[in-house]
Amino acid sequence: MKVTVMGTGHVGLVTSVMFASIGHEVVGTDIDVEKIDLLRRGIPPFFEPGLEEGMARESASGRLSFTADAAEALRGTDVVFICVGTPARASGDANLLAMEQSARVVAKHAPDDTVLVEKSTVPAGTADRVRTTLEREGAGRRFHVASNPEFLREGSALEDALKPDRIVVGVESPRSLEVLRRLYAPLLDDGVELIVTDIPTAELAKHASNAFLSLKISFANAMARICERAGADVTAVADVMGADPRIGRAFLNAGLGYGGYCFPKDVAALRRLSERLGYPFPLLAEVERVNDEAVEAVAAKVEDALWNMESKRIAVLGLAFKPGTDDVRFSPSIALARRLLDSGAQVVGYDPHAGASAKEELPELELANDVYEAATEAHAIVVATDWEEFRELDLPRLRELMTYPLVVDGRNLLDSDEMAEAGFWYYPTGRPAVEPAAGAPVPSLEAAPSAPVEQRPAER
Ligand code: UDX
Repeated sequence: MKVTVMGTGHVGLVTSVMFASIGHEVVGTDIDVEKIDLLRRGIPPFFEPGLEEGMARESASGRLSFTADAAEALRGTDVVFICVGTPARASGDANLLAMEQSARVVAKHAPDDTVLVEKSTVPAGTADRVRTTLEREGAGRRFHVASNPEFLREGSALEDALKPDRIVVGVESPRSLEVLRRLYAPLLDDGVELIVTDIPTAELAKHASNAFLSLKISFANAMARICERAGADVTAVADVMGADPRIGRAFLNAGLGYGGYCFPKDVAALRRLSERLGYPFPLLAEVERVNDEAVEAVAAKVEDALWNMESKRIAVLGLAFKPGTDDVRFSPSIALARRLLDSGAQVVGYDPHAGASAKEELPELELANDVYEAATEAHAIVVATDWEEFRELDLPRLRELMTYPLVVDGRNLLDSDEMAEAGFWYYPTGRPAVEPAAGAPVPSLEAAPSAPVEQRPAER
């Protein structure tokens, strides 16, 4: 089938490569001319495992192409996937301007009987607006609106798109269902479950899924605060909870909280939608509050241990909002770095992939080329993103390089016994803190190039 994908961001580009690799002819289009230029040269505008190779393979097969000319992209198309951004407004509402503009372009240039599929995450009711736009501006041509929310995760997006847990299609006409079934036939033949619903249900199911996952994370983080006060271990609490299949262990990892382009905006959008529908949902505001508090809790541990932050040097390990990506949008690590900078500290960050984007987001941030450079003369290290490489640190070397051996683990990546043995004060999240094993010398904060301060990490 001929597929047009409007919007070549994370969802659009991955969707394009996915449909091409299961045999469809895909044209991607975007209003960002520079981005299209990059894509035509085979360069993905962001890091995503397997994407560059997939683009090269499908471009060579002739099934994938890109154009900035939307009219050309829509010529002779069967189905259009709208994958444009739906960022949060200051109120938390989803900004649907790009959706409206895309619907207009489809109304103007797509052929009769085109199926328009919303893949961007949109509030329930958006399809009604899209349909009205198509009817008003489509010069009498017939269109079919459908919803097909995307559940892909950054860092494993292509894999998620090719092997989804489920395919959800919200439809209102037999033509939409038939087109979507044909499009996804290779995946359905592989046994992927197809869930067919009405359109508002599909729209809402996506927001519900992301809000519920965010709720699980905030639940774990609230438990972490309680565990810290009760002397319990939140990881073990999560293991116990997760062993019950009704609960499940996934997304119960306490730490710095959730970030990224989806969860923060989707929780806010669902909160606003529910208010507008006359059913305020304060549980969602609480999810957001606990998530913000997760960053504050880590910053407070650093301050509690080091007293005044001016001229203290803090290394933040991990700047991406999660491992496997260079995306720093709404990254809790960036929020933490900003918070520490605001308190007067000198902050040096390191990330295996996200250094450049982090520097763009937070120019005051000093960047290091590796963990050990970041740790040099630091008064504290904060583990902020759970990159695998941070599990394998050379602890004696780190301790040697640091001015003061304090590690605050915002992702519970390191082992308490090993940290104590290596001579660190180690503050994990929602688990008991440990002190250097007996015999380790107690360094002075004065050894640093900072103002002399006599303060040891607070007793817990
Ligand atoms: C998410 C959804 O998983 C995906 O289905 C949807 O399509 C888009 O939004 P993504 O934003 O790529 O995907 O990130 P995800 O892997 O879900 O992680 C989100 C955030 O939650 C990250 O910041 C991660 O570090 C954090 N997280 C995750 C936790 O803090 N604890 C956990 O237990 C799990």
